[in-house]
Amino acid sequence: MPAVIEGFDLPSLRAQFPALDQEVNGRPLVYLDNAATAQKPREVLDAIAQFYERDNANVHRGIHELSRRATENFEDARARIASFMNASEPAEIVWTRGTTEAINLVAGTWALDNVGEDDEILLSTMEHHSNIVPWQLVAERTGAKVRYIEMDDQGRLALDTLSDVLGERTKIVSLGHISNALGTVNPIAEITRRVHDVGALIMIDGAQAGPHRPVDVQELGCDFYAISGHKMCGPTGIGVLWARRELLEEMSPYQGGGEMIRIVERDGSTWAEVPHKFEAGTPNIAGAVGMAAAADFLEGVGFDLIAEHERTVVGYAMEQLSQVPGLRIYGPDSLDERSGVISFTLGDAHPHDISTILDSEGVAVRAGHHCAQLVMRHFDVAATARASFYLYNTTDEVDRLVEALDTVRGIFAV
Ligand SMILES: Cc1ncc(COP(=O)(O)O)c(C=O)c1O
Repeated sequence: MPAVIEGFDLPSLRAQFPALDQEVNGRPLVYLDNAATAQKPREVLDAIAQFYERDNANVHRGIHELSRRATENFEDARARIASFMNASEPAEIVWTRGTTEAINLVAGTWALDNVGEDDEILLSTMEHHSNIVPWQLVAERTGAKVRYIEMDDQGRLALDTLSDVLGERTKIVSLGHISNALGTVNPIAEITRRVHDVGALIMIDGAQAGPHRPVDVQELGCDFYAISGHKMCGPTGIGVLWARRELLEEMSPYQGGGEMIRIVERDGSTWAEVPHKFEAGTPNIAGAVGMAAAADFLEGVGFDLIAEHERTVVGYAMEQLSQVPGLRIYGPDSLDERSGVISFTLGDAHPHDISTILDSEGVAVRAGHHCAQLVMRHFDVAATARASFYLYNTTDEVDRLVEALDTVRGIFAV
């Protein structure tokens, strides 16, 4: 059993997550599907309930007390996320529905305005579909070419071949900070420097990084960065696009509607200041409030302690899983290069069967292509099972996972 981390009180931390305290199929729930979405602490649930119970009104429109409070809550949440990501100012934070919408926003505005038929868009084969398809749509409309950074046999970016695909034709590069399918952590600051050297911009899909580590957009030096609230203990349907103010200023609006205009005339309109120019319609106010509460919660626990705990649990899981006969783990061997995701296959058992049998023992993992079909193709598998860990998981839960995998081995004679 790994050592207890000083200052990290796991039982009382777990007690703050009501959803963890339940039985599934007659066994205490072991929730290992955190890369898909994380559970929510009481602090986040209370912040959302409190907003609806006391302050609910539309933002930016009314002069009455509740509207004033709703606007204050909403804009305070923006400032909270600005400090969470170390943005220069709250105006650099655009609310979106999540990472997917943030990437679509950049693809649908900046890219359509700036990418032409002689240009190239550079992605990697490690990307989530959210960071592939929006760029393919841009390529279809502009005639630009999509190119890929390949992976090595441990599912790391093959950066020794970066200069083969990154060059003067590259207009924008879009990469995940941490892979949802393999857990690989990419050296974003280093890649960003190389991208800027050829005069291109870089967007980072931070859906899997925001929950696990401090995101400092100024230190990373990138141009666009996206995160999702629901993967970092916040609510679903809310996320953020961060971009430097001068980029946001020059970008076209994303969607048209209320909130995003300054003046509407019969023959045309002018736009509101950034970030409101990108936020048409009534926003997800309670979602923003909940995401800010999640940022408070995570920083309250402390990212240093979260990282240390996750490394202990993931290290233990890698050790235990690698002793299971017939089990293959995908992704980097070194804990220094991976985050909380362990993708695996077990003999010839189909990952969906693995997941179903684990569920019958109360262990929740995901099975499938994890919206990363190019990763599956790279490793020549149709699907994997994926156990993904977060700050509240325990080494006892790893033991429950391994025990349930014994049942799978028994059934499939692995
Ligand atoms: C790496 C990565 N990018 C993008 C997304 C999409 O995030 P969302 O569904 O919150 O928009 C996910 C979600 O699984 C992800 O893991």
